[in-house]
Amino acid sequence: MNILVTDKMAEEALTVLKDAGFDVIYDEIDADTLLKEIGKYDGLMVRSRTKATTEVIEAGSSGNLKVIGRAGIGVDNIDIETAGKKGIPVVNSPTGATASVAELTIGHMLTLSRHLALADKTMKKGEWAKKKLKGFELDGKTLGLIGTGNIGKYTAKLAQCFGMKIIGYDPFISKKDMSKDNIEKIEDLGKLMENSDYISLHLPHIPATHHIINKKMIEKMKPSSYLINCARGGTVDENALYNALKEGKIAGASLDVYESEPPENSPLLELDNVVLTPHLGANTKEGQIKAGTICANQIVKVLNGKEPEHCVNKKFL
Ligand code: 3PG
Repeated sequence: MNILVTDKMAEEALTVLKDAGFDVIYDEIDADTLLKEIGKYDGLMVRSRTKATTEVIEAGSSGNLKVIGRAGIGVDNIDIETAGKKGIPVVNSPTGATASVAELTIGHMLTLSRHLALADKTMKKGEWAKKKLKGFELDGKTLGLIGTGNIGKYTAKLAQCFGMKIIGYDPFISKKDMSKDNIEKIEDLGKLMENSDYISLHLPHIPATHHIINKKMIEKMKPSSYLINCARGGTVDENALYNALKEGKIAGASLDVYESEPPENSPLLELDNVVLTPHLGANTKEGQIKAGTICANQIVKVLNGKEPEHCVNKKFL
């Protein structure tokens, strides 16, 4: 059997597939070629660049396609419902990037609180902007987490080392479970927005979370507070965020993910009080090895007729 890998993948992940006896074809093909070629393959393995659309899945299912693997967490680039209805399991690696994303989140918090991006920019322009760049300690501040799953919890653990108080909004996690990680559960998202110095999102982009952070929510933030999104574009209304940043209604923001990636022509690119990174959350050596090998093992299980642990479209199969 053969597996088409269309996004940059850790070598270790490809080795798992090869060791299991599969032919691995690594080719970062474009959308049209994928549509034409997909039917020839038994498996497709992707990250977020490749879009496994309805058409791609239908073309694959009329051919040989039996499994789609997402070496990562977010499956918003895959039509998991159509795949399920066509009998194609979609598997992912929910824990592979936990440390990587949480560490990037903390990195962004420090970058914002100590103006590191602006410090670097002004130094390189020959300025010694020490007086302009007075920062804040994370110690004693409140971090509001929107989503307290694997990544949210790990972010809480790291932030606690900096002496931060953690509050969390997550309709799916009980007060008791949050308290095990020393996170105070907040039932009302608005209250979390009002009471946090730093707000960080750790949730998927699904219809229920689209623009969960909108104008109304941003207006609840303290003027001294910061917003960080290392989760998914589309959860934050970028227009509303731009207006708040432009008018100085909040202190700043950091974004790793965007409504459209790359965020070409976004007015956010012109602001100094926002720090932008190119969807780097899971982009570490270790994160890629973990995400890639977990996903590869799931693909191997499906193709060998075994039950995978991380199938995200079970209910449609
Ligand atoms: C994920 O959902 O796992 C992250 O957003 C990483 O996406 P990437 O694999 O495209 O870097």
